[in-house]
This record gives sequence, structure tokens and C-alpha cells, in this order.
Amino acid sequence: MDLGFTGASAVVVGGTRGIGYATAVCLAREGCRLGIVGRDESRVSETARALRAAGSPDVLELAADTTSAAAVDAVFDQVRGRWGALNALINTVGPAGAGRLEDLTDAAWATTVDQAAISAIRCVRAALPLLRHAEWARIVHVTAMSVQRQSPGLIAYTAAKSALLSATKNLARTLAPDGILVNAVAPGPILTDWARPVLASAGIAEQDPAAAFQLLQKGHGMSVDLGRFGLPEEVATVIAFCASHANSFMTGAHLNVDGGSDFL
Ligand SMILES: NC(=O)c1ccc[n+]([C@@H]2O[C@H](COP(=O)([O-])OP(=O)(O)OC[C@H]3O[C@@H](n4cnc5c(N)ncnc54)[C@H](OP(=O)(O)O)[C@@H]3O)[C@@H](O)[C@H]2O)c1
Repeated sequence: MDLGFTGASAVVVGGTRGIGYATAVCLAREGCRLGIVGRDESRVSETARALRAAGSPDVLELAADTTSAAAVDAVFDQVRGRWGALNALINTVGPAGAGRLEDLTDAAWATTVDQAAISAIRCVRAALPLLRHAEWARIVHVTAMSVQRQSPGLIAYTAAKSALLSATKNLARTLAPDGILVNAVAPGPILTDWARPVLASAGIAEQDPAAAFQLLQKGHGMSVDLGRFGLPEEVATVIAFCASHANSFMTGAHLNVDGGSDFL
């Protein structure tokens, strides 16, 4: 299937590691021009080299912290200067944010909401003139499976992701007259950097996603019908479709990429 990324442009916010990185690689292989946002400048450069090698004809290195409005504005100023328009905005930045009610101060809540929801909204606001200027445009947000199945240890994280989901659905309606399609993808447990120390401390090899999942199931009562962690690439392909020209009639959707779960 041709996703229609040849000649298109996309910004992947949080594109230097994990799910965002896997999404950027997926789009690079499709011939998409890419802007990559992350805080660590050297990692942004390293990622840009990998994306050029994977097939992207033009990669913009956009080192920035999305919790700063000025930095986000500067990112999309650079995109405007280089491309003048933007086909896809993919927001994958999320908070560290684990903790129970008693563990979290007001400041911790505010940080979590900023990283999970306001950062993404800030990027949408700054990118909107460019998205409106493109022949076709899509926005994709990354929420989490916990939005639909509460875990006491993720109270602020989940509330903040729920805010992002609500904004996603609102934006889908708001931007439909502009032909901008807005969707959210909800991953289950995915083997990215957060999981590595947890697995290492339990003596579990990260090459063994099934054993890794047993640990999560025991500790957090998580339900995943396929019985294993997912891999970033398995979420990336779904995000790529949502962000593509080939997605022409889905907006306001919340897609589970969680290996199957017990919520209805
Ligand atoms: N992995 C999972 O199991 C899982 C499950 C459900 C939902 N999710 C959600 O999926 C998304 C991606 O998760 P992941 O595990 O792939 O994350 P990850 O491996 O930690 O990667 C996060 C990416 O975002 C960048 N980033 C973080 N904070 C940023 C900021 N303030 N400004 C700019 N860039 C920032 C990071 O680069 P720098 O650190 O250099 O800035 C990195 O490129 C998150 O929203 C997460 O909540 C993940």
C-alpha cells in the first residue's frame, strides 16, 4: 500500500528514542521529509543521520524542550523557513509521571500535565498555520492504554493522557472543516527505555518480551492477551498510517495498540 509520504513532510516530536524514533524510521523509509524534536542535541543529530540513511530526502534537526513555548515556536519557525507547509505533526512526548496519590505533589502533577498534554497542544498551536497551508494534513497523538484501564500507580500520568485524548477528539471536530484529520494511538506496554532498568533489576533479559510481561502482570495486574511486551515498531506502523495521506476518513479515533486487553 502506498501511504503517500513521497514528497510529504512530517515533524515527529519526541522522535529520537522509542516509539517516536521507530515512527520516524518508518516515515523515512517511505521517503518523507522529517523534522525531529528532542531535548538532547547530540541524539537529535545522531537520529538525523540514521533517518537520512534510511531514505529521508531532508531531515531538520530541531533540538528543543516542548515544555518551553518559545522553544516550540522556534521549532515551527524553522519548519516554516525550510518547507513553508507541513503534512503531518506527530506528538509522542510523554511524562515520566509514575506515582500514587500520596507520592505526587502539586508541582509533580503540573509537570506531568505539561509534558503529557500541554506540550502537544503547544505544538499543534504552533504548527497549525503550516498544516493549514499543506495540501493534506494529519495530527497524531500518543496516549496510553491506562486511559481505559486505570492503574493506581499511574494516577497523574493517566489523568494527563486523558486530557490529551479529550483535546484530540475536540481538535478532530474543530479542524475537520480544514480537512485536518486528528487521531490518537494508545500503546500498551512497549519495550522502550523506561522498561530496561525495571527488567534489569528483576534479572530479565529485554530480548525476552514474554518474561518481561510476566513481571508487569504480577506487579501491576496488567492484562495483555498476546502475553508479551510490544515493540516500538509495532506502534510506529499504526501511527504512520494515521499520519498518512492514505488515512482519508478516520478522525477523532483512539486506536489501541496494546496486544489485546480486557476493556470493552
Ligand atoms: N513505552 C510504553 O510502554 C508506553 C506505553 C503507553 C504509552 N506510552 C507513551 O508513548 C510515548 C512514547 O513513549 P516511549 O516509551 O517511546 O518514550 P521514550 O523512549 O522515553 O522517548 C521519548 C522521546 O521524547 C523526547 N522527549 C521527552 N521529553 C521531551 C520534551 N520535554 N521535549 C522534547 N522532547 C522530549 C525524548 O528525547 P529527549 O529525552 O532527548 O528529550 C525521546 O525522543 C509517550 O507519550 C508515552 O507516554 C508509552
